[in-house]
Amino acid sequence: MKKLIIFDTTLRDGEQAPGNSMHSSEKLEMALQLEKLGVDVIEAGFAASSSGDFASLKEIAERIKNCTVCSLSRCKKEDIDLAYNALKNAAKKPRLHLFLSTSPLHMQYKLKMSEQQVLDLIRSSVTYARTLFEDVQFSCEDATRSERNFLVNAINTAIECGASTINIPDTVGYSYPEEMKDLFRFLLSSVKDADKVNFAVHCHNDIGLAVANTLAAIEAGATQAELTVNGIGERAGNAALEEVVMALNVRKDFYLTETNINTRQIYPSSQLLSSITGVKIHPTKPLVGKNAFLHESGIHQHGVIANRATYEIISPESLGIIQNDIVLGKHSGKHAFKDFLEGMDVRVSNEELNILFARFKEIADKKKYVTYKDISYLITHTNTTQVEKKFSLLNYGITTICGSAMANITLHTKDGVKADTCTGDGPLDAAFKTINRIIGVEFKLEDWSVNAITEGKDAVGAATLRLSYNGAEATGRGISTDTVEASIRAYLNGCNKLLDILGD
Ligand code: KIV
Ligand code: ZN
Repeated sequence: MKKLIIFDTTLRDGEQAPGNSMHSSEKLEMALQLEKLGVDVIEAGFAASSSGDFASLKEIAERIKNCTVCSLSRCKKEDIDLAYNALKNAAKKPRLHLFLSTSPLHMQYKLKMSEQQVLDLIRSSVTYARTLFEDVQFSCEDATRSERNFLVNAINTAIECGASTINIPDTVGYSYPEEMKDLFRFLLSSVKDADKVNFAVHCHNDIGLAVANTLAAIEAGATQAELTVNGIGERAGNAALEEVVMALNVRKDFYLTETNINTRQIYPSSQLLSSITGVKIHPTKPLVGKNAFLHESGIHQHGVIANRATYEIISPESLGIIQNDIVLGKHSGKHAFKDFLEGMDVRVSNEELNILFARFKEIADKKKYVTYKDISYLITHTNTTQVEKKFSLLNYGITTICGSAMANITLHTKDGVKADTCTGDGPLDAAFKTINRIIGVEFKLEDWSVNAITEGKDAVGAATLRLSYNGAEATGRGISTDTVEASIRAYLNGCNKLLDILGD
């Protein structure tokens, strides 16, 4: 069996895609989940891109103990220095990820540099980076559209100067599997010290081939795969971590490759990411979509009842999808609740436990049975570990008359209790306007959705929304058996995060 290094770029390539931006507390929450998932490297951001990214990389690097934390960096001394300052106190030896384009198109139009200038810049940047980092990765951006002999020169230069991982990105998702296989075979036999470094593959999904291209490169000898949870990333996204890992797992007989991934953390990771970003998972998304294990046709159902293997190649349980349902009720005590969280591999402080237990009790009072699914949403939507709650809900009332609504909202604020009333086009419009008036900021609602977590009329609703103000954006999450209350909670969560981002 060959060992494949899993390099996760959910928090960098994934997060930089529109609609996926995360607050630093959410990035940390996701990084801790990636650590549980068992990825080897977490690319947690791009230190030079913003002060927020710098601070978040620093925090993640100091908290994560079992994965290498990595920052992206352009071939610029200032970028390398910033990445070094963000990662120098990392709990585990950090990695710097340098990149520079090597395709004729990028060199001529984007870099406006000759081949020689590109080689010189690779030499000086990798050499300088190695004075600060032991572990340096070099990526030939747009590698799959680069001229092959020049690509070999660029890689030889990076290795000579001390890079220990060479990444071959299909930056624009242009390649096809046979071509990818051929490129890796060519590079592994042409690059001077190819056997002394790791070769990584990084594929984009512009024509839907990212996973197939990644697997083709692995077949041809790639020793690292760069992936994202749910396949999020620039444009059509990156190769989905869950798909590549499970393809290797299910077809071990063919790929003869293993990873350190704990597959039981695949579904929890996918759900956490979706609830953080508010980006829904398509029902037919392999492995983690709602329909991935549903058998609708009678013939299939009949087969699955007789023997699951007739139509299922993977068990949902092996991905961490818990099928059992009724778990706790209103008589369950704090002890049982804590045990249940521990069973889900969720460890919380006493303070967090008190907050979660209080919200659990509120829901259990209104709902006969509280399910595993309800509790996992309760955790992701209660935001115990997130930003300071400058504003929290004390109570609310809504009256509607012929389509127009009036909201009366009372908030707990750092200056005491404040209440106000506004009218609006509907209950939520009235509620959100009232909150804006109490806080004194015109937050703008960009996106909003409510999901019923389980079936039935007492189902719990999980609201996710996106707010903006002055160019900054944040996601808000809230949960309740009442969808209006879930939305108000989500709105307040978004407001608190935006105020934190804006430094108010
Ligand atoms: O797709 C790409 O080329 C990248 C590089 C920065 C590695 O993300
Ligand atoms: Zn990329």
